[in-house]
Amino acid sequence: MSIDDRAGPEVPPTPGDDHAEACVAARNVGKRFGSVVAIENATFTIPNRHFTAVLGPSGCGKSTLLRLIAGLVPHEGELDVKGQPVSGPRPDVGLMFQHPTLLPWRSALENVLLPTVIRGRVTDRDREQAMQYLSLVGLEGFEFSYPRQLSGGMQQRTSLARLLMTGAQVLLLDEPFGALDEFTRERLNLELVRIHEEIEATTLFVTHNITEAVFLADEILVMTPRPGRLAGVVQVPFERPRGIELQRTTAFTDIVFDVREMLGAAL
Ligand SMILES: Nc1ncnc2c1ncn2[C@@H]1O[C@H](COP(=O)(O)OP(=O)(O)O)[C@@H](O)[C@H]1O
Ligand SMILES: [Mg+2]
Repeated sequence: MSIDDRAGPEVPPTPGDDHAEACVAARNVGKRFGSVVAIENATFTIPNRHFTAVLGPSGCGKSTLLRLIAGLVPHEGELDVKGQPVSGPRPDVGLMFQHPTLLPWRSALENVLLPTVIRGRVTDRDREQAMQYLSLVGLEGFEFSYPRQLSGGMQQRTSLARLLMTGAQVLLLDEPFGALDEFTRERLNLELVRIHEEIEATTLFVTHNITEAVFLADEILVMTPRPGRLAGVVQVPFERPRGIELQRTTAFTDIVFDVREMLGAAL
């Protein structure tokens, strides 16, 4: 079964189009900030419904790449999302950051409802949907807690529920759990993959952790600094669901080694 078969009638494949299944298609994409080259000549394709890691050291252009895809800053080159050239922000593409951006005077539920508030009146159905997303991210029972009453991990869960509430089908996550301790991060990463599968989204996930990228992703965009280059795209063929024991296998450590080499070679 191909990816588009699962997509149902609302995403018809375009006959004769090689990129019919592409969610993000970039060709010679670049970005400069004055004399700083943040991204240079990036060419890649991300299929619909994939979980893709964007991996690289600090300053190599990972956040910039996500902002370009989100349409928050103009780009050079050709960049399409779901077959449409990126020309600005759009409702089906959503971005989430490393640090929670919740409103402290609103409860978790009220924060998750924000995208709806901004669009207009909140209906009972919106409320129900927000409660469902809070439950999906594991926050059942915390709907009426305020951000200060929630741990960092729970605040990021709330941010994720709010992102889902926007209806975005392309999730751009910029080191979403990067500020959390390793144990919490590992657990949330696994939950993230489950949520990604449940809501049938395409997810781009920024990390600077090689093992994490190989364990979670369908493919890895490996980026290197000076200037921001896409060193390569590494496919991660392991079946899902993936158990932690996968990390002990030679197949796994081989890919980790390949990625490390790809990063090291250009440093
Ligand atoms: N708004 C901006 N103005 C000027 N330079 C920027 C801006 N955003 C990013 N940069 C530069 O672009 C490069 C890539 O940054 P960034 O995308 O944040 O990297 P990463 O997320 O991988 O750490 C860095 O050299 C950074 O200083
Ligand atoms: Mg960044």
